[in-house]
Amino acid sequence: MLEHKSIRKYIDDMPSDDTIETIVRAGQQAPFASQAYSVLLSRRRGRNPYRAPLLFTLCVDYHKLELIMAKRKWKPVTNDLTLMFFGIQDVSLMAENMVVAGRSLGLGSCLLGGAMYRADIIAKSYKLPKRVFPLVQLVMGYPDESPSSRPRYPMEFTLFEDEYPELDDGAVSRAMSAMDDGYLAQNYYRGQRAKIPLEKGARKETYTYDSYSWTEHISRKWGQWHMKPKELLDLLEERGFFITEERTRKVSIEFCLRLVSSASAYISSVEACSRKSVPSERNSMEKRFHMWFSKSRSRRTCAAWARGWVVSLL
Ligand SMILES: Cc1cc2nc3c(=O)[nH]c(=O)nc-3n(C[C@H](O)[C@H](O)[C@H](O)COP(=O)(O)O)c2cc1C
Repeated sequence: MLEHKSIRKYIDDMPSDDTIETIVRAGQQAPFASQAYSVLLSRRRGRNPYRAPLLFTLCVDYHKLELIMAKRKWKPVTNDLTLMFFGIQDVSLMAENMVVAGRSLGLGSCLLGGAMYRADIIAKSYKLPKRVFPLVQLVMGYPDESPSSRPRYPMEFTLFEDEYPELDDGAVSRAMSAMDDGYLAQNYYRGQRAKIPLEKGARKETYTYDSYSWTEHISRKWGQWHMKPKELLDLLEERGFFITEERTRKVSIEFCLRLVSSASAYISSVEACSRKSVPSERNSMEKRFHMWFSKSRSRRTCAAWARGWVVSLL
């Protein structure tokens, strides 16, 4: 595990069915909260990222679990945010088990985080049912490169016993140096041509691949990208996951308002008809109905009562 490194170059050899199943089986054996996952596989090397022989797409999957629950005559009532959090943990543990199992069988791999932003396309391509959300992808194959292990934060920046320490400037700088020096020593970003461009006008570019390293990369990534959650929330909703309560509330408020205003309009017209003033623009069906309505006192009383009720709601 201490020698793990992501692999982005692969030889052509296709892993056998047995190897693939062993890797997925090892993934399944990870601890789980509810086995809320499914694994999609593509062996179309030509179309896979980094031309990897295998592309696994790991999905948060509540479709299967809800089929089981339905057979037991249960419906999930837990909110989707909670379910999604647990699903993400199930998928993540499975993914890492697959990485480790792959490595033990001589395969390299690399996780790809962009799947969730293409959830609609992936769903269409694999014909996913609702309640299945593609979370992360994992390319795999026999390595055609042997990079050094990438650096990690020092232990003083990672393991906090009993209480979270105040991280002083020295500790932050040491952590930054460990990461930046480590990545620079490997020419990591130059090798991948992976410098994130600065948004127009925001800052002046002063970095070259001699100085651009992890802390600048990660700052650019989260400092200027995807500020609004809507895109992801919409993709989740398309897949049948409703994360925000606001939406449910908004829908129901909109629905009530529409209901109340149409009821109010209807009752006003009924009242008008009870005063025998049928608006001229009404069609003959409506006119006949209005005449029928206006003939009964109890109907008129009923309309007046309903109108009062609607007005008090508004
Ligand atoms: C959730 C997640 C998403 C990632 N997305 C990508 C990606 O889109 N492209 C890529 O080349 N590597 C991706 N990686 C791999 C990381 O870049 C890599 O793990 C990290 O730089 C540390 O390097 P190492 O795995 O070689 O130790 C991702 C890793 C994770 C865990």
